[in-house]
Amino acid sequence: MNNIQNNTNLVPLQGLGADLCLDLGVLNSQFSSKSPEEVLTYFLKEYKGKIALSSSLSIEDQVLTDIIVGIDKTTRIFTLDTGRLFPETYSLIDKTNIRYDIKLDVQFPDYKEVEKLVKAEGINLFYAGIEQRKACCRVRKLEPLKRAFEGLEVWICGLRKDQSVTRQAVQLVEWDEANQLIKLNPLINFTEEEVWDYIRKNSVPYNKLHDKGFPSIGCQPCTRAIEAGEDIRAGRWWWENPDQKECGLHKR
Ligand code: ADX
Ligand code: SF4
Repeated sequence: MNNIQNNTNLVPLQGLGADLCLDLGVLNSQFSSKSPEEVLTYFLKEYKGKIALSSSLSIEDQVLTDIIVGIDKTTRIFTLDTGRLFPETYSLIDKTNIRYDIKLDVQFPDYKEVEKLVKAEGINLFYAGIEQRKACCRVRKLEPLKRAFEGLEVWICGLRKDQSVTRQAVQLVEWDEANQLIKLNPLINFTEEEVWDYIRKNSVPYNKLHDKGFPSIGCQPCTRAIEAGEDIRAGRWWWENPDQKECGLHKR
C-alpha cells in the first residue's frame, strides 16, 4: 500500500504483487462502458474475502445486494444500525435476509460512547446545530464503520452522481484516503428511474417508506417525507444547507 500513500490516484492491483498499482483514471475508463454486474464480477473475484457492501437498505443498496448475491453469495454485506432507524428499515433487514437466504452483518455503535454523548448533549442533540449533528453521526455511524472495515480492501457503496450536489464528482472507482480503502460505486451513472426499473423487474424488496414520499432514508429523526418537486435528498437533515448534508461517511 506504500505506493498509493504518495499518489492518491493509484490503487493496489490484487494478485499481481503488493507493489503493483494501477492508475485510477485508467481503471475508470476501462470500466466506463461496463455494467454494474460486470464491474462487480471483476471486483468480487479479484478481492474475494477483502470486499464488502455497506448497505443502508436504500434502493441502490438493495439493487447491489441483488446483483452481489447472484455473483457470490458469500460476499459480506454489512449495515450500520445507528439505533435510530425507522421500523420499516428493520423490517427490510429481515425481508432481505429471507429473500436472499443471507444474514446481513448488523454493526452497532459503542454504547458507552452513545451514553456519553447523550448525557452531555441530550437524546435529540442533532437539532441543536451542525456540530452536535456531526458528533451524533460520528458516534453512531463513523466509528462503527471504521470497525466494519477491519480486514477490507474494497468497500462497495450505492452512491449515484445525480443524488445531490455533493455527489457530482463521485467516480466509479475511488481511493478513499481517510479509510485507506478502494471505494467502488457501481451504480454511479444510474438514474433514480433506472434503479426503480431494476427493483421492479427483479422484484427486489424495498423500504415501504418509499411509497410514502421518502425517496432517501436515513435515521428516523433526521429524515422526513418530501413534497412534490423537492430534491430527492431534501428530506435528509432538512434543517441544514444542501452543501453540508453528508454524515461524514463519504468525505471528499
Ligand atoms: S448518507 O451519507 O446520506 O447517510 P446515503 O443514505 O445516501 O448516505 O447512502 C449512501 C451510501 O452510504 C449507501 O449506499 C451505503 O453504501 C452507505 N451507507 C449509508 N448509510 C449506511 C448505513 N446505515 N449502513 C451501511 N452503509 C450505509
Ligand atoms: Fe444521529 Fe441523525 Fe446522524 Fe443518525 S443521521 S447518526 S440520528 S445525527
